[in-house]
Amino acid sequence: MEMWIATGNEGKLKEIKHVLQPQIPEISLHHQNELKAFTPRPEDGKTYLDNARIKARSLKAVRDKDWVLGDDTGLEVVGLGNLPGVHSARYAGPHASDSENTAKLLKMMTIRHVGDRKARFFCCLVIMTPDNQEWICEGELWGTIGKLPQGTHGFGYDSVFIPDGETKTLAELGPGYKLTHSHRTLALRKFLERLKS
Ligand code: IMP
Repeated sequence: MEMWIATGNEGKLKEIKHVLQPQIPEISLHHQNELKAFTPRPEDGKTYLDNARIKARSLKAVRDKDWVLGDDTGLEVVGLGNLPGVHSARYAGPHASDSENTAKLLKMMTIRHVGDRKARFFCCLVIMTPDNQEWICEGELWGTIGKLPQGTHGFGYDSVFIPDGETKTLAELGPGYKLTHSHRTLALRKFLERLKS
């Protein structure tokens, strides 16, 4: 049995594999970059669910007998009216790097004099079963946005996100923290519960 993960993001892939692999050793995990001729469809949905579906369905079209998992995640900052949200990947432009997106976020918070630095990561997974059912599993992690990027672990906006109850960013706390507490881990655990029920 195979599960194909619809992401080209190495950081995300690593986290998904770390959570799933020990729990489902009978399913071998693969990812879209292993398919030479595969071109992902543009993520032009209006919601996380739309985009997770786009990712999962475009891979399911070429791996129709296998499990397929699509993950769409965003960071919502309360004081920015929940931006960047579904636009998190392209916040600083269509091909923006993680550091450009993070720099833009901090700049916007300064320009707009954002007082409320509360924020959440939201992760929506769309899992398609071998018999073509769609399972939706979600997870969130609340925290605050720091004043400067700190830490070297993780990816994306991890260097500016301080989870509630902590004084360090996700990028300082390291992979062990995300493996047990993150929005993605919580969503993946819901998938595992459903799979095993
Ligand atoms: P996407 O879900 O791959 O479209 O990612 C949306 C944006 O959020 C990208 O800029 C990612 O780098 C970022 N992102 C996704 N997941 C995480 C996470 O777990 N931590 C920090 N940033 C993330």
